[in-house]
Amino acid sequence: MSFQPFPDPPPERPLEVLDQWLSEAIDSLGSDHRNPTAMTLATCGADQVPDARIVLCRGFDATRGVLTYFTDRSSAKGRQLQENPRAAVVFYWEPLYRQVRIVGPTSFVPDSVSDTYFASRMPGAQASALSSFQSQTVASRAELEERHAKHMRALQHAEGSLPRPERWGGYHIWIERLEFWTGRTDRLHDRMLYERSLEPASPSGSPGEFEASGWRVTRLQP
Ligand SMILES: Cc1cc2nc3c(=O)[nH]c(=O)nc-3n(C[C@H](O)[C@H](O)[C@H](O)COP(=O)(O)O)c2cc1C
Repeated sequence: MSFQPFPDPPPERPLEVLDQWLSEAIDSLGSDHRNPTAMTLATCGADQVPDARIVLCRGFDATRGVLTYFTDRSSAKGRQLQENPRAAVVFYWEPLYRQVRIVGPTSFVPDSVSDTYFASRMPGAQASALSSFQSQTVASRAELEERHAKHMRALQHAEGSLPRPERWGGYHIWIERLEFWTGRTDRLHDRMLYERSLEPASPSGSPGEFEASGWRVTRLQP
């Protein structure tokens, strides 16, 4: 893709830009099965040791500025978010020569949303979620395969869908800081940083909801 810097003055609504970049990534990479919504998720628990891994972004709410992903909440990242509910995320779309960096607080998605998403997963993946206590040690591969086979057999008596284990569910990442990076071959890249404040919603609001200020925008040197 040819280099297109952000205009001066920059766009006032960065969530619309992110929505567009995600759509363009899905359009240009999706047909090739290259996981255009794969994102590096960094967390840091009470031990203050940063940790990072890839997860798939399963939703973006461009009105509130919230990303969604699903996982086993008893995993290493789940424990880290329990201790320190803030995450950083990086998307990188090599063919577009674009990077997006995000930082913000996290919260659980409502159980009803996790239920619906779990039920939409292919049966083998449902059985895997039930078989695997993510990030815990296991004595052998055979033990995992046995557990999986047991849940696959249970599927036959469960009308094709298994119940979501309580430990499995979604997270929201609320965007507080958002940086767009668009690359140029001579390295005079373009970087726009958008920041806002997020405060927990009033007691009358829904749990895990945040109220957002307006955006401050700055251009960073590459
Ligand atoms: C392309 C790709 C997509 C992945 N998507 C997810 C995901 O959506 N959720 C998840 O829990 N793990 C996903 N994983 C596995 C994670 O990278 C990681 O191994 C796992 O979540 C355990 O991480 P933790 O021990 O730090 O909690 C994915 C891995 C890859 C390579």
